[in-house]
Amino acid sequence: MRAKELKRKYLEFFREKHHAIIGSASLIPENDPTVLFTTAGMHPLVPFLMGEKHPLGKKLANCQKCIRTGDIDDVGDGSHLTFFEMLGNWSLGDYFKEDAIKWSYEFLTSKKWLDFDPEKLHVTVFAGDEDAPKDTESEKIWLSLGIPQERIYFLPKSDNWWGPAGETGPCGPDTEMFIDTGKEKCGNDCKPGCKCGKYFEIWNDVFMQYNKTREGKYELLKQKNVDTGMGVERTAAMMQGKKNVYEIETFTPIVNKIKELAGITEPSPKQMRALRIITDHLRAATFILAEKRIVPSNLDQGYILRRFIRRSVRYGKQLGIESDFINKVSGVIIDIYKDEYPELEAHREFIFDEFKKEEEKFRKVLDQGLKQFERLGKDGTISGKEAFILFSSYGFPAEMTEELAKEKNLKFNKKEFDEEFEKHQELSRQGAEKKFKGGLSDASYENAKLHTATHLLHKALREVLGDNVRQMGSNITPERLRFDFFHDQKMTPEQIKTVEDKVNAKIKESIPVDKDEMTVDEAHKSGATGLFADRYGEKVSVFTIGHYSKEICMGPHVKNTSELGRFKIVKEEAVAAGVRRIKAVLEKN
Ligand code: SER
Repeated sequence: MRAKELKRKYLEFFREKHHAIIGSASLIPENDPTVLFTTAGMHPLVPFLMGEKHPLGKKLANCQKCIRTGDIDDVGDGSHLTFFEMLGNWSLGDYFKEDAIKWSYEFLTSKKWLDFDPEKLHVTVFAGDEDAPKDTESEKIWLSLGIPQERIYFLPKSDNWWGPAGETGPCGPDTEMFIDTGKEKCGNDCKPGCKCGKYFEIWNDVFMQYNKTREGKYELLKQKNVDTGMGVERTAAMMQGKKNVYEIETFTPIVNKIKELAGITEPSPKQMRALRIITDHLRAATFILAEKRIVPSNLDQGYILRRFIRRSVRYGKQLGIESDFINKVSGVIIDIYKDEYPELEAHREFIFDEFKKEEEKFRKVLDQGLKQFERLGKDGTISGKEAFILFSSYGFPAEMTEELAKEKNLKFNKKEFDEEFEKHQELSRQGAEKKFKGGLSDASYENAKLHTATHLLHKALREVLGDNVRQMGSNITPERLRFDFFHDQKMTPEQIKTVEDKVNAKIKESIPVDKDEMTVDEAHKSGATGLFADRYGEKVSVFTIGHYSKEICMGPHVKNTSELGRFKIVKEEAVAAGVRRIKAVLEKN
């Protein structure tokens, strides 16, 4: 079964079960400052899992674009991916364990759907601990469906608990479904959860009824939710009998293109790894750029994007590719996915432009780095500090320094590099912790205020700088708002002051903030702005602030502008060519 067919079947199944099918949300989280990318389908739904009303109802399903960078160093084997698609269905305080499990069972085993042999199905359920009880309810449901006791396993939180997506928020015990692939058991304790590959994890039903607080406590949520997830690429690979994801039909054209560009037919294991890294990273980078909200930079998501591109260039070089090639590969990726994700075709030119700039820039840097390397090692060694400078300033990983050193018969002290690296990590981790200390749920009122302020700012910027000011991204923490927009000049102090004054004048006017639900078409007809409209299925929320601002938005908002306090711009800077960033705060009156 092809990946496309799997997605179609999944969504059709849940449509038959009266779920509204929603589009994939952005890869850039709108409301969660604790993570850089959308890591799971439930992530964009957090406000609704916490009790807010979703415009499309209480039963939803979709296929969500996700990025997880935690395992980036493992990419290159057969299974780790940074970018992937995830199928999911949700109950927002509607059905719970019984329906969720029955439907999972039906979809997996019914002839009409995936048609797996029920005898091959093994399941795990939560064993219970001091935070939540043993999940005997799920066990009973599985037994009633005919799964015998010996194929039901009780496992601790490390296996059978999911969430929160960021640091705080909805989470809960889960029940995971595994297909016995028929392989030999690896040892005595081989059972679902074992990494040897005998048991393939196909689906995860999470029962989200808890909220993890900043203090690490698990409190009951207002409502009992269901969040399920099935990875598209992995599942398609398993169903096609492939040993790794890179062999399915949505990957082979990409891998083949890179092979062609490198002139390789029979890759060695080392070349195989490079091929996979480039494939994975350029899929992720192409999808990030397609949203036209992030460009390569040294900050947050822009930095991760930069890393994806730079690593691709470097591994391309390892394969012998010396001239610009990324757009040739990205073009293949766009063609594979453009029907399902129209933003790829719509922004093809933008994607190619950004890739071209970054690839050219990095090729020069890389060549300089190589030159720099040539100057080192006069005494026969490359020190850890030198290797770290090569890494941090030229993007050379230690492994590349190690390889080059070997070629030139130089000694290289990897341990010293690791120490240097750790020291640096420590510092940036401290920075990140400080930055991310606010959680979504605890700070929701501060968040709502800043969301409303963002709408006022957006409008004021258009008034002062012109209508071609276009929002590129926004990010809100409980302390401040951040707003990125296309504009090719630095703002003057007068312009900044005028924008502040305009926003503060609207706050003083005490204008009510109204929320209406309507279709995307109606929203556009009514003159609402909003970038992400078509991503949320048919109906959207439109927030109107008097006659001043009208925007499509999923964020929480306050009821009246008078709640905001005093608006102040604390920083205006460039984040990339043609993109400005404003940071602003609300001060108490
Ligand atoms: N959030 C859960 C997961 O990622 C289920 O969708 O597995």
